[in-house]
Amino acid sequence: MKLTDPNILTALTDLGVERIAGASLAERTSLSIGGTTDLLLVRRHSALPDLIGRLRGAGVPYKFLGGGTNLLVEDGELPWVVLQLAHQEPDLRLEGSFAHVDAAADLGRTVTFCAKHDLGGMEGLIGVPGTVGGALRMNAGAYGTQIGSYVREVELYRAADARIETLHENKLSFEYRHTSFAPDDIMLAVKLELPSKPYREIIEGIRICNEKRRSSQPLNQKSAGCIFKNPPGASAGRMIDELGLKGFAVGDARVSDRHANFFVNAGHATCVDMLSLIEQVRQRVRGAYGFELENEVILWTQ
Ligand code: EPU
Repeated sequence: MKLTDPNILTALTDLGVERIAGASLAERTSLSIGGTTDLLLVRRHSALPDLIGRLRGAGVPYKFLGGGTNLLVEDGELPWVVLQLAHQEPDLRLEGSFAHVDAAADLGRTVTFCAKHDLGGMEGLIGVPGTVGGALRMNAGAYGTQIGSYVREVELYRAADARIETLHENKLSFEYRHTSFAPDDIMLAVKLELPSKPYREIIEGIRICNEKRRSSQPLNQKSAGCIFKNPPGASAGRMIDELGLKGFAVGDARVSDRHANFFVNAGHATCVDMLSLIEQVRQRVRGAYGFELENEVILWTQ
């Protein structure tokens, strides 16, 4: 979508928002799938209420992009503009056992930065790609760790109130790949409380998780991580594997040979290819095991 409203275009400069016209979402997502639209890069959090108020007032649909690592976006000219937070430096400040982290900070770098200051707990999250904000919204987890366990406060743009608020942990809930945030809330910053641990111990934990991940996941291929959530008591990856679907493909969208719950873009896969693959696999699992697999990947499709 091309942003044409002259009032909004004029206001962007005052708000410190950079417009990237015709930005490719394929270039901004780990699956390398997605069409084009105007991208609004927000440099100051405080500009969000005004910017979103203007977009809403002018009837311009928008979506918010984090790191793009858990996202499947439709092809072609997209029917909404995309907002993204610009990366700030510094994006992390430590205060005793607390880490104040900007939502646009890289999750892996956050884990290693905290490790260097003897703050651990998040070792399992080391290979999870994307931003801290994205991890927060999904309650990202791996190897027994979930980011939600360490969250004490979240600063966010609350779409329902159209303003920036700080929520304490007692107002938040984090479950398996699910949080109490509304779909249109935008994460801005988080305060984490992390256990003290010697650096060497944390690094050893990180090394073990990295090794496990490297041996079981297709890290050098384009993917959005796991496509489906694990149903209670079962493993989506194991079921898809048992059905012999590793390597099963629609166009260049392919079930990974390494981990069956990772679907990779093996070349020039389109969103239509990937959606078709997802539906066919879901149907096969439903037929064989009776589980209705829920998407773990976020869909930006109509
Ligand atoms: N398995 C197979 N074949 C496969 C894949 C897995 O038989 O192709 C078996 C494994 O041998 C194992 C079981 O299934 O016995 C579980 O596999 P794994 O340990 O790889 O974990 P997972 O449940 O498939 C979850 C998360 C991952 C996270 C890993 C490690 C979900 C949907 N997935 O995968 O998160 O990295 O545990 O903790 O919860 C993601 O969220 O995108 C993601 C990749």
